Amino acid sequence: EKGGYEHFMLKEIFEQPKSVHDTMRGRLLVDEGVIKMAGIWDHIEKFKNANRIIIIACGTSWHAGLIGEYLIEEYARIPVEVEYASEFRYRNPIITDKDVVIAISQSGETADTMAALKLAKEKGAFIYGICNVVDSSIARITDAGSYTHAGPEIGVASTKAFTAQLTILTLIAFKLGKHNGNLGNADFMSLIAELEAIPKRIEDVLSSTHELVQNIAKDFVNATNFLYLGRGYNYPAALEGALKLKEISYIHAEGYPAAEMKHGPIALIDENMPIVIIAPKRGHYDKIVSNVQEIKARKGKVIAVVNKGDTQVSAMADYVIEIPETSECFSPIVASVPLQLLAYYIAVYRGANVDQPRNLAKSVTVE
Ligand code: M6R
Repeated sequence: EKGGYEHFMLKEIFEQPKSVHDTMRGRLLVDEGVIKMAGIWDHIEKFKNANRIIIIACGTSWHAGLIGEYLIEEYARIPVEVEYASEFRYRNPIITDKDVVIAISQSGETADTMAALKLAKEKGAFIYGICNVVDSSIARITDAGSYTHAGPEIGVASTKAFTAQLTILTLIAFKLGKHNGNLGNADFMSLIAELEAIPKRIEDVLSSTHELVQNIAKDFVNATNFLYLGRGYNYPAALEGALKLKEISYIHAEGYPAAEMKHGPIALIDENMPIVIIAPKRGHYDKIVSNVQEIKARKGKVIAVVNKGDTQVSAMADYVIEIPETSECFSPIVASVPLQLLAYYIAVYRGANVDQPRNLAKSVTVE
């Protein structure tokens, strides 16, 4: 059932070209220039009149939510807030019937997310679900939703569900933006054509980085700490890269927006600190170049995820992982793939049980 792979996690990482494709199938109609999502369309007035969208989730799904905020605010210009379900449910939040609450959950059974949704519903918000498991509790309680068609995710560390969540959030942002006029037709057409080709980009990244990342992982088996840095859309991708590493390798890792480095974490940098930095060409590249200079001046070990043909960051980095260039909004999907592989191989070389990490359950149905 692992399809020849040693672990479910590796199988699921390699399934991403298909799971992202399946998540778009029937929804993204590039020739017609249309995104079809019944859950959105049937309630378009709710989205159109929303004061704001509140995204609630936990863990990896919360990271997807942060990227959803960037997407929806950039393309649909609707204010978005993203909150941990566990905080939201206990802090007497202000919610009205003018709010749209989007819950993101792979399992659809996460207790905190479920409780937060019940609260939002009581206060009259319209609630929308992005779940992977069909007919799960969250899918059933929501007013409407869109399933991620990632297929069953068995590995406790979420991989293909995350990229499928990003795919749905991208579709929602483009659809709302097109509808409310914030995303012009020409930009919409070129973005959806690019989105359609993302599964192919993921496939390319899997084949071009798999062996390289395995080799890089060997050098970090005994690391005790890691920093992950990114800017813009790739700041949440850095958080997610760090979470993957912690969960399965038990190495302490922290994700940060690269610009926050100087507000504290820079104190940690010396020759023993590995730093994964996501530095695609489109997305504050020059700023990232200066961050890498600051890291190298302190002898940190830089593992850089850059676009093919990159020179500036690559010249300074100790390890270079190349991904294809995309519009900034798609880069977290593509950049996450080598970071998943990196966490996976470091954990495997440490002899950890990657599919069933200690202390973790696939769905957290208790608070
Ligand atoms: O099933 P959910 O998406 O609601 O789960 C949320 C988190 O528990 C989950 O993403 C967790 O952080 C994963 N182990 C991440 O790999």
